Amino acid sequence: MKATAVGPANIALIKYWGKKDEIWRIPENGSISINLSNLTTTTTVEFADTFSSDRVIVNEKLLSSQQLSRVIKHIDRIRKLAGSNQKARVVSTFNFPMATGLSSSASGFAALTVAGVKAAGLHFSEKELSILARIGSGSACRSIPSGFVEWLDGDTNETSYAISIFPPGYWDIVDLAVVVSEDVKEVPSSQGQKLHATSPFFATRLRYIDEKIAQMKQLIKNRNFLQFGELVESEALELHAIMLTSQPSLIYWTSGTLALMKLTKIWRSEGLPVYFTINTGQNIHLLCEGKNAAILKLKLQKLDFVKQIIVNQPAVGARLTDKHLF
Ligand code: PMV
Repeated sequence: MKATAVGPANIALIKYWGKKDEIWRIPENGSISINLSNLTTTTTVEFADTFSSDRVIVNEKLLSSQQLSRVIKHIDRIRKLAGSNQKARVVSTFNFPMATGLSSSASGFAALTVAGVKAAGLHFSEKELSILARIGSGSACRSIPSGFVEWLDGDTNETSYAISIFPPGYWDIVDLAVVVSEDVKEVPSSQGQKLHATSPFFATRLRYIDEKIAQMKQLIKNRNFLQFGELVESEALELHAIMLTSQPSLIYWTSGTLALMKLTKIWRSEGLPVYFTINTGQNIHLLCEGKNAAILKLKLQKLDFVKQIIVNQPAVGARLTDKHLF
């Protein structure tokens, strides 16, 4: 059977960094994110007796052997759940640069999970899809439910999954994903994550993370943009403080990232409420209220080092579509 799904990337407001369990990808702490309307992966999966081997094409190219093995492992999980040994064809397109800090593994594994499960003839609940997506790539579990999402960290495979806490239309927030370079990051997140405990600050982070999560949920609930933005930005800086102080250190920023971090503060001092957040990579997200998105975009368009601006609203989670890629 053949099935196609579109999965959104998500931007973490409270970040996932570090795992309690490496194999099952159980995170050290819970996290909160927003699904993004214009950073998406579309994936078609087909299983058939007539295929003699698995074939995976991403953005019209064959994957590197390391990337391929991660996708095939995920397909194997789906085959095992379906009790099938049929080979698979997988074709994916990403509408944004991969491995540059824009969470392509989240949209990629969410779309692969939803399409793969359907193509295998399985019927999974949202919770089961989120659990399966998590095993493929942690943050992908948050790209399954819609809108504003919380990943409940849990401590077993069955208790670690994401839920929607507010629907996409709850709050008119805009995320401008700003591409300053399409260079692929030197250290993938999954590798960087393994260093979390080498930072002396990680233990401190864990001590008050639950309080921070509760605070973030309350600020979203109250639609309090200024306090929300302050918390989002300080959380991003805390994550990067941990990365910078890991052994070996992880430095994901480039001059373009830093320039935008500084400009964000300048624009704020001039009266434009805008805040940044950054994941693993040089590209940066700027968050503002819908009413300020056009003016912020105009400011960004004037900067010669900005390569692309992708405007996102809070979006639904990964969904099936009938627009197959083959
Ligand atoms: O799911 P991974 O292994 O790509 O890790 C994501 C890590 C961050 O993007 C930095 C934080 C997050 O919660 O998305």
